[in-house]
Amino acid sequence: MVEEVDEVRAAVAPVAAADRPTPLADVDLGEWAAVPTGLSELDRVLGGGLVPGSVTLVGGEPGIGKSTLLLQALSSLADAGQRCLLVTAEESKQQVKLRAERLGTQADGLWLVAETSLPAVLAALDEVKPDVLVVDSIQTVYDPELGSAPGSVAQVRECAHQLVRVAKDRGLTTVLVGHVTKEGTLAGPRVLEHVVDTVLSFEGERHHALRLLRAVKHRFGPTGELGLFEMADDGLRAVPDPSGLFLGDRRAGVPGSVVVPALEGHRPLLVEIQALVAPSGLAVPRRSAQGLDSGRVSLLIAVLDRRVGLSLAGADVFVSAVGGAKIAEPAADLAVSLALASALTGTALPPDVVACGEVGLGGEVRQVGQTARRLAEAGRLGFRSAVVPASAPDVPPGMEAIKVRSLAEAVARLSLVAGKGVDEHGPPVGAFTK
Ligand code: TYD
Ligand code: MG
Repeated sequence: MVEEVDEVRAAVAPVAAADRPTPLADVDLGEWAAVPTGLSELDRVLGGGLVPGSVTLVGGEPGIGKSTLLLQALSSLADAGQRCLLVTAEESKQQVKLRAERLGTQADGLWLVAETSLPAVLAALDEVKPDVLVVDSIQTVYDPELGSAPGSVAQVRECAHQLVRVAKDRGLTTVLVGHVTKEGTLAGPRVLEHVVDTVLSFEGERHHALRLLRAVKHRFGPTGELGLFEMADDGLRAVPDPSGLFLGDRRAGVPGSVVVPALEGHRPLLVEIQALVAPSGLAVPRRSAQGLDSGRVSLLIAVLDRRVGLSLAGADVFVSAVGGAKIAEPAADLAVSLALASALTGTALPPDVVACGEVGLGGEVRQVGQTARRLAEAGRLGFRSAVVPASAPDVPPGMEAIKVRSLAEAVARLSLVAGKGVDEHGPPVGAFTK
């Protein structure tokens, strides 16, 4: 609950030149061409670049790298001849300069102003007359005319409204930075989502170098694209081959490891799913899921128990998507279930197998979208067989399909039986098997 004081404000002055009705065919798209930022992954998510006059909101948890991303984008835009203004409402100019030095950028066309009051920001706009404006962050900018405290919902919304109006009037490309807490609340981006044209979400585990950028809302293109960055000592680096990154340190032949060709937007990503099953001393055994939906994992544990006859009762179960990846799609069901079965029986899958499919409550394996695309990526990275639903399209040449109708069939085809394989990391945990 956030208290909001009812503010009485003068009515907004009407736009100077009222718009005239125009036939759709005559609408000029000229100035709406996206301007590339020069950061390949950012441009990929934006569908080409920033559209002049558009307002973009970049949301993310504190410390995730929003300021770094935008400083890199601005430097690159400035180098390309765009006039850029960075309103740094959280950090001093010196801090920004230090970061720029760390990033190794010169950026002569980049102007800085360390201001938090909206009138001062607007004055700076009049002085610099930039093509691109970045406000970092919108939560720290306030309008002294409003009675409410800086950072309150009323302040954030009103300041954003005014900046959006300026952007539309002047054709100024605007990017607003907003902090989101883990809960996704606070007087932040959520109240602004409908005011802006594009909402980008910058995500990642703070202790992992990987950063994911996605468009939550985009008025100028698709929202499915995913941008991948790696936080290094000299800033954010594009990750053009993410699958290699996720599988880099993989140790094949360990029970409980299965690779899934997941799909993030239009991008296939090969991610290793790992499961560990250990005897539990607790009355209520632990169930931990990292990077996966824990409800989904519980469901798959139940399906394994009832439909396959592999019981995990009395065992602590840990499942994770390796490398800080987050997989929300049901396409990972089959891989998660097989990882669990493999961990439980202590039997490793062959190292060159991928699995993708949705698992239903009846234990049946269902087809998922874009299987061909996923398998093509798996083939590219050297995987030779794929466990797929019976209805799946043909696998790419050079790859063998292991078509299964049910999870039980998949477990049988892969010979995941207790005591068959040797778990070099401990005794087979076949004791849990019914
Ligand atoms: P920052 O962009 O300040 O995050 P935000 O604006 O989202 O709060 O970046 C935060 C982290 O990034 C900080 O903890 C340090 C790290 N970092 C690097 O690892 N390498 C770099 O080159 C830079 C600039 C930052
Ligand atoms: Mg910041």
